[in-house]
Amino acid sequence: MNMNQQTSEHGRWNASNLDLERVFFKFSPEAEEQFKYYIQNLGELNQIRNFIISKSDFPKFESELEMCREEIEHGQRFVVLEPIEGLDYNEIQMYCWIISNLLGTPLVQDQSGTRLIHIYDRDKTKRIKDGVRYHQTHESGAIHTDNVNTPLPWQYLVVGCVFPAMIGGENIIVSALSVHDFLEKKAPDELAVLKENFWWEYRGISSELYQAPIISYTNNGEPMFRYLRTYLESAHLKAKQPLTDKQIHALDALDATLNMSEFQIKHRLKEGQILVAYDSQILHDRECFTDYPDSISVEEKRAGENGILRRSLERAWVKK
Ligand SMILES: [Fe+2]
Repeated sequence: MNMNQQTSEHGRWNASNLDLERVFFKFSPEAEEQFKYYIQNLGELNQIRNFIISKSDFPKFESELEMCREEIEHGQRFVVLEPIEGLDYNEIQMYCWIISNLLGTPLVQDQSGTRLIHIYDRDKTKRIKDGVRYHQTHESGAIHTDNVNTPLPWQYLVVGCVFPAMIGGENIIVSALSVHDFLEKKAPDELAVLKENFWWEYRGISSELYQAPIISYTNNGEPMFRYLRTYLESAHLKAKQPLTDKQIHALDALDATLNMSEFQIKHRLKEGQILVAYDSQILHDRECFTDYPDSISVEEKRAGENGILRRSLERAWVKK
């Protein structure tokens, strides 16, 4: 990745001008060595939430990650960190946890206080429409941001691949800034509706609701998105304030734009790769997938079962 290269205009990109050289980042051999030395001296890695990460433990690794932060905040708004060779599944989890902690504070994502969530298909029969959280299924979802469960702002979505699916599970990555520009030109009335308040759930956290717009702006006038349509629709039902025709039309306009291939790229995370995105300026989705027959979870493997892993990702929501 050449950090001196000019970013696309204000971080806007589309499928034809996205600079892949800047997307994929490989740590230097020296930084990787620093990282490996650190985790090899940690002992048992199965209680990673207990590890307090200190920046001074990996100066080279940390300074290279700072270059990535620049790209995530002011460049194309996301990077894919390349695998560190030779890590096992415990160490890949640790890689995700260390990256998350060096970027900021990983937030609690559920009622049990988890800060690094395993994403895998818990039960093939469970569906999002039955109220199960999307990360616990194998279904494709809809293009969204993750910052919908709480009104508190946070910055970075970290998704690391411990093991890919047998087939599928590509990530769809969408430029929020380009989508916003398109709506501004093509659908200004609908954009105005998206800037008004909608109802949201604290799904998986509490039964309360809150209000916030889908599109708001930074002090510099950059758009920020908060969007996951199924959660929003469910919150409007709970608030007993059905969406108006005007709101539904605006959501349809947004969905149609998000699904335009020119604002997207697809990437299937490889074992050991970590996607880090500026959540409010990169929308994302995951295509459906199928696991190997009789595959097992990380927990089952750790408990001594033998078998190939299910698609297993680790996710953190990081506040700067
Ligand atoms: Fe997501």
